[in-house]
Amino acid sequence: MQQNVSLKPYNTFGIDVDAEYFTALHNISQLPALSAAGITRHVLGGGSNILLTGPVKGIVIHNQLKGITVEKEDIDYMWLRAQSGELWHDVVMYAIEAGLGGIENLALIPGTVGAAPIQNIGAYGVEVKDTIETVDAWLWDEQKVQTFTNTECCFGYRDSVFKHSLKDKTLITAVVFKLSKHPVYNTSYGAISDELASLGVTEPTVKAIAHAVMNIRRSKLPDPKVIGNAGSFFKNPTIPTTQYETLLVHHPDMPHYAVSPGQVKVPAGWLIERCGWKGYKKGFIGVHARQALVLVNYGNARGVDIWQLSGEIVASVHERFGIELEREVGVW
Ligand code: EPU
Repeated sequence: MQQNVSLKPYNTFGIDVDAEYFTALHNISQLPALSAAGITRHVLGGGSNILLTGPVKGIVIHNQLKGITVEKEDIDYMWLRAQSGELWHDVVMYAIEAGLGGIENLALIPGTVGAAPIQNIGAYGVEVKDTIETVDAWLWDEQKVQTFTNTECCFGYRDSVFKHSLKDKTLITAVVFKLSKHPVYNTSYGAISDELASLGVTEPTVKAIAHAVMNIRRSKLPDPKVIGNAGSFFKNPTIPTTQYETLLVHHPDMPHYAVSPGQVKVPAGWLIERCGWKGYKKGFIGVHARQALVLVNYGNARGVDIWQLSGEIVASVHERFGIELEREVGVW
């Protein structure tokens, strides 16, 4: 265990604050010793969905649990077990090399396997919940690993039980994914079919779709190795259809997606852009010029300044549209 360790290399926003204690987790046999009551634990995966607003008290556990194995297979499916410290994109690469379908649209999402179920990562018409069979998690209080079924994970849009009743109560150790040997391609998201066409692909494969997604992401989203960021900072808000129809009177070009009868989702990026924030820059902080949903650190930004900017954005979207944005990124 190390003391006073800078977390700058461990968070994609590139915020420079110290962890009081820091340790790497390589084996689940280390978990009982880390389960002692009375200490605040922070589980760190890829650090790609957190904003650090000050020195972190307690212990930061850097998840390095590695391994991808075939759990079982039949003629239609293969079940892959991935340890939670694996990089998510490496699992996508493993699946596409094996020709397995289900997660190809989720290529290049930063972060680890363990973080994927917590916020039910999603992109280009696919959410990870649709391929998750089970999640194994260490329960800090009970000091044992428990297997959660897909239903028990209570998945929602960027949401799961691990953000609610099990928040801070577990460390996800492994996830089992059920992937298809006969992929059904999801190219409904317009940008994917356009990109496949420009790549000259007429018969999609999981590999071709993953490459199309990677091209789209690289063209829109900033690379955290170059500009600090944590992907979408806010969730896309869901509003009543009646409110949407009222807003349409003054904003006839407002995009939307139907989510359930009487409810629509509106892209937060569009709302933020319309409030004039896209490309905003002040000192080291800013709003990305190609995707207004992404807040960025151009150098030595402080987490509190990014947090404050996010508050100003929430307020201006509320004032202009009467819609309350919710932050997607977690705060330590
Ligand atoms: N839009 C704007 N201005 C912007 C950004 C977007 O007008 O600055 C409009 C676009 O023109 C489009 C709509 O908003 O009509 C949707 O934009 P986009 O396809 O870029 O997706 P998004 O809804 O902004 C979501 C996810 C992303 C994911 C993409 C692609 C959330 C919070 N974000 O963004 O996920 O990659 O869809 O599926 O749901 C993440 O969670 O970190 C993330 C990057």
